[in-house]
Amino acid sequence: MKFVFKSALVVAMALSTGGVALAAEGGKTKLPAWQMQGDELEIAMNLKGDAKNGRDVYEVCAACHMPEGWGLPDGTFPQLAGQHRSVLIKQLADIRAQNRDNPTMYPFALPSQIGGAQAVADVVEYMASLPMSPENGVGPGTDLALGQQLYKDNCVRCHGENGEGKNDEFMPLIQGQHYEYIKRQFREIRDGARRNANPDMVKQVKGFSDRDLSAVSDYASRLKPPADRLGPPGWHNPDFD
Ligand code: HEC
Ligand code: HEC
Repeated sequence: MKFVFKSALVVAMALSTGGVALAAEGGKTKLPAWQMQGDELEIAMNLKGDAKNGRDVYEVCAACHMPEGWGLPDGTFPQLAGQHRSVLIKQLADIRAQNRDNPTMYPFALPSQIGGAQAVADVVEYMASLPMSPENGVGPGTDLALGQQLYKDNCVRCHGENGEGKNDEFMPLIQGQHYEYIKRQFREIRDGARRNANPDMVKQVKGFSDRDLSAVSDYASRLKPPADRLGPPGWHNPDFD
């Protein structure tokens, strides 16, 4: 199935965001800033990923994201295992196009290091197939009633009741993600520092205080993926023995 991209999806997103119009420039559609990576995203979305080659590409990624794709519970490196394919492709394409700042990772993820759109599709196929961590980092647990209310009122419509996200709308799965990473991304999105952020989310959360931000991140970090998506505690990825 060909992924419906520029036409239906992006237009629907642009309309739903109010301010972000699709401007035509010399007959070429100009994507809104959070979709600016353009070609590579669209190309990789329509390629069939090869998980076997993806494992080889992933080798360099494992140094930071860990062989299991579980990242670190202190949130330095996010969990990538189990994330939606569309989200992984978009974030990777954004980072490669410098549409999302990630100076730590950038030099390792360039086309000259890992290859072009096919390598992106392959590594994403591999990452999305990994079981998720049963022991992600969570917050202090001191403000969960506020966090739950804020989540219900402000996040469910995009990230889902249980933080499951939506693959067909590039909405990240946030269940099982590390608290400190959620908090950091949330802050960057709220403050306008994550340039590829969905403008509709920015609008939704711009009034959040730091207390709100911590509370909702804590609550979100405790949303659990379904049991059949989790690996056993302490699982070791045999692909990297
Ligand atoms: C030197 C460490 C490092 C290496 C190597 C690295 N990354 Fe990352 N990656 C990071 C950091 C740090 C972040 C989070 C950045 C932030 O907080 O904004 C990240 C974020 C990401 C994200 C975004 C996740 C999300 O939830 O939005 C993806 C996707 C990703 N990395 C994929 C990869 C892939 C694929 C490779 C290998 C080709 C790779 N990374 C190699 C450090 C690294
Ligand atoms: C209008 C839809 C929308 C709403 C409402 C929304 N988000 Fe998001 N959120 C997104 C999209 C889309 C992204 C990915 C943007 C991108 O591609 O960079 C995102 C990204 C994130 C990220 C970064 C994920 C990652 O893996 O890097 C976190 C954390 C997050 N949202 C948390 C929340 C929380 C908590 C709320 C409620 C307080 C919320 N969002 C409300 C659409 C939304």
